[in-house]
Order: sequence, then structure tokens, then C-alpha cells
Amino acid sequence: MTLRPATPDDLALLQRWHREPHVAAAVGDDDWAWETELRRSPAWREQLIAEVAGRPIGFVQIVDPAREDSRYWGCIAEGHRAIDLWIGEADALGHGYGTQMMERAIERAFAEPDVTTILVDPREANTRAHRFYGRLGFEFVVCRQFGEARCLVYRLTRHGARRPPN
Ligand SMILES: CC(C)(COP(=O)(O)OP(=O)(O)OC[C@H]1O[C@@H](n2cnc3c(N)ncnc32)[C@H](O)[C@@H]1OP(=O)(O)O)[C@@H](O)C(=O)NCCC(=O)NCCS
Repeated sequence: MTLRPATPDDLALLQRWHREPHVAAAVGDDDWAWETELRRSPAWREQLIAEVAGRPIGFVQIVDPAREDSRYWGCIAEGHRAIDLWIGEADALGHGYGTQMMERAIERAFAEPDVTTILVDPREANTRAHRFYGRLGFEFVVCRQFGEARCLVYRLTRHGARRPPN
């Protein structure tokens, strides 16, 4: 499993993944404006493609919610990172790749010394994702409405990380 930066060459892949029923159910049909977003690399965001043996299988995004353009998270303190992830290729679900992707993303986020807390916001109905984050050490914080979606916010602190970084 490796994570590499997403590029404009990944446009068709990301658009196809976004239409996959298991991704659409988790992420919704919000327009992620892939065509525009893949062409820019703001300092507050990393968009990454997960590859297994050279085959792209999924997407991870790490955002600084205090600096992100749309203020999705509202008014929020410094020191957070918000992570979104999905496995795009349906045949790659349930093989442990999601766990590996999240572990890599957690390591990357906590590599910044000022980052104390990682946030994720799976939809209320996505109970498998709730279990998935729970196994990774995330704790439930609050139920929150983001646009049309009712979500559960979970957090992982440095202290709570399963394998605390050095
Ligand atoms: C959540 C997800 C990243 C986990 O990756 P994975 O490689 O499938 O998971 P792992 O093999 O590491 O771990 C297995 C666990 O993943 C979760 N999972 C597996 N398939 C899933 C699916 N179709 N949808 C949601 N979660 C799923 C479950 O928690 C599963 O454990 P369970 O047997 O207790 O239900 C992946 O399933 C996925 O991309 N789902 C769709 C998008 C999504 O829900 N993203 C997270 C919220 S935005």
C-alpha cells in the first residue's frame, strides 16, 4: 500500500469512483469539482491516491479545517485535521486496505507537531464506517448536520492513536 498525490490524470478514475454505489452512499452526491480541485494544491489540503501493487484502489483527503476554503467545519480551533477516505474499487473493499490507508493518513497528519486531533464525519447511516473508525481508536464526539447529511463526528487525539507517533 502506498499513498501518492492525486493529479489531473486521475480525473476519470475519481469521477468513476464517485459514482460507485458504495462510495455515493457514503459521500453523497455533492459535487467535489474534481476537474478544478485536481489542478490546485492549497497548503491546507492533501489529496492522495492509494495504490496496491501499482493499482489505484482508493482516495484519501487530509484537510486543515481551520484554513479550508468552504469552512465546511465552521469556526474551529487550530490543531485539527479532517480526513475523508474511500476505497473506489469495489473488489478492494474488506481486505484491510482501508485500515492501512487510514493508518498512513493518521501518521501523515500527526507528523505535523501542531496537530493534536484528527476528525472524521461518517454519515449517521454508515454503521460499518463507525465500527471501522472505532477499531482505529476514534471516539464519538457529536451528531452534526453538514448540509443535507446527518453525520457522526469522531475524533482521534495523539494520545488515543493506536500506534502513537514518535
Ligand atoms: C470504510 C472503508 C474505507 C473501510 O475500508 P476496508 O478496506 O473496506 O475496511 P477494512 O478491510 O480495513 O476493515 C473492514 C471494515 O471496513 C468497513 N467496511 C467494509 N466494507 C464497507 C462498506 N462497503 N461500506 C462501509 N464500510 C465498510 C467495516 O467496518 C468492516 O468491518 P465489519 O466487518 O465490522 O463491517 C471502506 O469500506 C470504504 O471505502 N467504504 C465506502 C466509503 C466510506 O464509507 N468511507 C468512510 C466514510 S466517509
